[in-house]
Amino acid sequence: MLPMVGSTREWWRDAVVYQVYPRSFADSDGDGVGDLAGLTARLPYIASLGVDGMWITPFQPSPQIDQGYDVSDYCGVDPLFGTMHDFEQLLEAAHSMGLRVLMDIAPNHCSSEHPLFQAALEAGPGSAERDVFHFEDGPDGETPPNNWVSSFGDRSWTRAHPSSETDLQWYLHIFSPAQPDWNWRNPVVHDFFDEVLRFWFDKGVDGLRVDVAHGLFKTEGLPDAENPGAVVKGLRFNPHMTDQEELHDVYRRWRRIADEYTPTRVLAGEVNLDADRAARLVRADEMHQAFAYPFVKIPWDAEQWKSTAERLAEAHADVGAFPAWSIENHDVVRAVTRYGGGPTGLSRARAALLIVLGFPGAAYIYQGQELGLPEVDVPVDARVDPMWLKGGVSRDGTRVPLPWTTAQEGTFGFSSIDADASWLPTPPSWGEHSIEAQRTSDGSTMGFVARVLALRKNLRADGTLALDKSVRWQAKDDVLTVERGNRFLMVMAMGDHPAPLPAGELMIASGPSTADGLLPPDTAAWIRLRGR
Ligand code: GLC
Repeated sequence: MLPMVGSTREWWRDAVVYQVYPRSFADSDGDGVGDLAGLTARLPYIASLGVDGMWITPFQPSPQIDQGYDVSDYCGVDPLFGTMHDFEQLLEAAHSMGLRVLMDIAPNHCSSEHPLFQAALEAGPGSAERDVFHFEDGPDGETPPNNWVSSFGDRSWTRAHPSSETDLQWYLHIFSPAQPDWNWRNPVVHDFFDEVLRFWFDKGVDGLRVDVAHGLFKTEGLPDAENPGAVVKGLRFNPHMTDQEELHDVYRRWRRIADEYTPTRVLAGEVNLDADRAARLVRADEMHQAFAYPFVKIPWDAEQWKSTAERLAEAHADVGAFPAWSIENHDVVRAVTRYGGGPTGLSRARAALLIVLGFPGAAYIYQGQELGLPEVDVPVDARVDPMWLKGGVSRDGTRVPLPWTTAQEGTFGFSSIDADASWLPTPPSWGEHSIEAQRTSDGSTMGFVARVLALRKNLRADGTLALDKSVRWQAKDDVLTVERGNRFLMVMAMGDHPAPLPAGELMIASGPSTADGLLPPDTAAWIRLRGR
């Protein structure tokens, strides 16, 4: 139960959610990998930031080939992270602090160690067990059933039994071979996931972040792709693996399950589609929200920010929804580094966060973003991301353990293990970014984020940021302005020149502002407008 939060309000619509990557949050048992008990012990830190809840990336049993996104038991806890009892304690502690808890669910694929996949391998061609996944014959033992390329860069098919002369079947995996795709055209899969949802909802989790929510179904007949290796906006894109019409019935069914609970359990989709297509997945009877995906890649450009945000907001408004804004997560280069690194990158990352926290809708903050952590150049031989191991980019640099203390001793307060022995090594400079260092430093990014969140909460409470207010977006002379209703205005100076500050009360700025009514480059501000 949540003593501090009303039960019927649609809390999620404009919530701020903190993304916890448990491997890298806090390690309580000294094995170099973060765990649930470590997270529970440090929940007061998350609560102190002033967020409404957290989303925890996968901690279910998994061979950990894709750091938990290869699930071998959807209703358990991997011993690496603790026990089910640890999870129950975490949930209770979070709720007692007024924090909602979202978990991750990966319905596109499971682990090749999952008992149902193992049974399918065992059962052989033509069996009911194989029909739970995509097993297909190839023309011969060497050539896969079609030309699809996986999101990790190599082919999407692996032979079930590579040395067998009688079983020439292949199975489909749009990520690594350790992640076989479920066959969503088989009703068994639907029933299976209904049970998974109910299991966690009954336990009291407040919602689920749905991994690869645009995936699941593949074009019937699995035809060859016209351009199998196509990369669109930095991501591999094959229309046969994505956005199939049948998806909507799955999310309608899930929404009905979510709505059996009070308050409704939230479904937040990782949806990598254009705005109009993404919005169709958050129609009133489907998922509650979808991440504003383009913002994890978007360059520092006022015109692009304006047009992309406006398009997303409008497409969502058409279906009565609001985007879940985020500029960082465990899959992308840290914003500080993406925006140029060093002091400039940090200023921009702070400005960008201030702006998205003022956009209409929910916002997600990835652990360490509140510290302004830069991307780490993880030594090549320490990298473990399967995407890197398959020849793609490495996502390890954004997943490095959180620095808690200024002194290195062990791993900067993350673990008692040496800093170069934690699951990803931390750089010697990590202590300057630590929570301890930022607690005592004036103007720290952490202090700034907490101030913004407190202000945002007040502005939600007094109606200034009410979601029904109209929004006006503008990009001019490298300056982005966003006006919500007639009392709230945001400005972000994205060029190499200062931006004039409109008349009104400067509520907060992401960096030092000038006395002469100008906002320096790479800075953003929230203004309270008067007399309108
Ligand atoms: C999602 C996850 C990512 C994972 C992939 C495959 O995109 O965020 O970390 O590798 O799905 O499950």
